[in-house]
Amino acid sequence: MTKTDENLKIAFSDESQTNIEYLAYAHRAIDEDMMEVAQLFREAAGAEVVHALSHLRVMGVVRSTRENLREAAEGEDLEILSMYPKFIEEAEQEGRAEAARSFRVAFEREKHHRAMFRKALGRFG
Ligand SMILES: [Fe+2]
Ligand SMILES: [Fe+2]
Repeated sequence: MTKTDENLKIAFSDESQTNIEYLAYAHRAIDEDMMEVAQLFREAAGAEVVHALSHLRVMGVVRSTRENLREAAEGEDLEILSMYPKFIEEAEQEGRAEAARSFRVAFEREKHHRAMFRKALGRFG
């Protein structure tokens, strides 16, 4: 992997995270009755999506829908089999009930995502 390949991965992660953070900040700004700032965060969040999508395109990770479904099902599988069970256990060990609950909500829903991706994949025969 070249330096630029590594940088694309980092930039993609950063832009993706920033998108979600800005969306959360926009919600907060609305709660604080600062609509102008909420608009700014929402608009910037949209631009971060464009940046992330552009990096992704250069990275070449978006393939045919059939391949994307397989990739998505495998990604959900990884979260279900190893990531979330471990994270839930560790959060409980550390007495982090809120984190454990957040992980569990996602964990449960990933099963649905995996099932739906597999079902869609099945249509390809
Ligand atoms: Fe950006
Ligand atoms: Fe998911």
